[in-house]
Amino acid sequence: MMWVAVITVSLVEGAPQGMPEPHIIPLSLTIVKRPSRGGIRLQIDRKATDLGSEGYLLDVSESEILIRAHRSAGLFYGVQTLRQLLPTASFGSSPRTSEPVSVQCIRIEDAPRFQWRGMHLDVGRHFMPKEFIFRFIDLIALHKFNRFHWHLTEDQGWRIEIRRYPRLTKIGAWRNDTMLTYDPPTFEGRPHGGYYTQDEIRDIVRYASERFVTIVPEIEMPGHSQAAIASYPELGNTGDILPVATRWGVIENVFNVEDETIEFLKGVLTEVLELFPGDFIHVGGDEVPKKQWQQSESAQKRMRDLGLKDEHELQSWFIRQFDSWLAERGRRLIGWDEILEGGLAPGAAVMSWRGNQGGIAAAKAGHDVVMAPNTHTYFDYYQSQDRSKEPHAIGGFLPLEKVYSFEPVPPELSPAEAARILGAQGQIWTEYIRTPRHVEYMMFPRACALAEVVWTKPERKNFSEFLVRLRTHLDRMREMGVNFRPLDAN
Ligand code: ACM
Repeated sequence: MMWVAVITVSLVEGAPQGMPEPHIIPLSLTIVKRPSRGGIRLQIDRKATDLGSEGYLLDVSESEILIRAHRSAGLFYGVQTLRQLLPTASFGSSPRTSEPVSVQCIRIEDAPRFQWRGMHLDVGRHFMPKEFIFRFIDLIALHKFNRFHWHLTEDQGWRIEIRRYPRLTKIGAWRNDTMLTYDPPTFEGRPHGGYYTQDEIRDIVRYASERFVTIVPEIEMPGHSQAAIASYPELGNTGDILPVATRWGVIENVFNVEDETIEFLKGVLTEVLELFPGDFIHVGGDEVPKKQWQQSESAQKRMRDLGLKDEHELQSWFIRQFDSWLAERGRRLIGWDEILEGGLAPGAAVMSWRGNQGGIAAAKAGHDVVMAPNTHTYFDYYQSQDRSKEPHAIGGFLPLEKVYSFEPVPPELSPAEAARILGAQGQIWTEYIRTPRHVEYMMFPRACALAEVVWTKPERKNFSEFLVRLRTHLDRMREMGVNFRPLDAN
């Protein structure tokens, strides 16, 4: 049975300046010429608790299109699904929607498996213009992701304006050079940089929230902090005047453990909390070489005074300074799985990146977990074993099928422990990803596979069926001008 309506995609009102027009994701669908019967009805039903906070019912009948949800996020996802029932041309930048389109009668009741459906983007290694951040949010919302983990600070660049510490962006946002290949080391030979002003960040946060995307800002500590130390040398252990880093890899320069440094970082986080209203604040915690703390008289004294047995416990102490501080302000700390080493404060959550092990240990210890294992979710890895045909990447091999096969709940967990797995997310580290188009190439179609992993129940997943649907979906992405990697021919 077919139902024919003339519909158009409405543009978002009050768009932030600098947004590419027209936007590719509508907030609503409006009827421009009422069909003889019915219309599109978006209905919040406060009694429909069975739909959950993000679920929806989409009912296309001969008389009307109904999207019903318990909460507005569900309506948004219902609209995204309805869009998938429309011709792929409706995804284009100038939708040809003056023609009537047919929508098949269908009834879909749908809700996500996981509450954390994330995509991460590293803007520290390569700054990405704010116009692309809007587009990135559009693209993830279209795929029903609801978390944008924004990796804002790195050794190679500090990207968020902090008003009380202007040198973080005056100095820390700019580097003299960029490594192009690690081995042999080659360099671009020109400066790189950029940062987001607080006004821009407010626009981005609002734009994301209109698409039911919560931004999780990451401020890296105590490692991956050379750009901050370059800006304020008193934050470091050696007193050396350092440049913003130009090489990739794990770097020995880390924050010192002085009270003034903890206060400095609380000052940074105070402004971060003002900008980002979401529940979780990411404090990094990964890849912290302990050498400078071992050699620092002051760090060793701190350990003796606190009765800590090693530098892992010192790292744990460092992170704990922020856990209770965030909790007092109604927020939660999340960090990479190294924050488990040396003990972790009870309310903190863990992002498991070194495979599943950190996530398993954290869940067993009663911590909430987001699965982000490099084995299945690192979209900076190669998409082919034939590297000669791919753009230079950091290494690894993560094909589409392996992403699709990812199961975020490790079998080692009991049902109670499994309930600690909030969800999963994909990572886009940008050492060798220099442009927005290259981000899209690494992201898609792997993010499409991950979108299904975090939304769909495992018993409903089927890779060959996914591939059939993906071919249609890639037509939509082509209409949107997304630079996805074409599927392998076979
Ligand atoms: C990481 O990849 N260092 C979290």
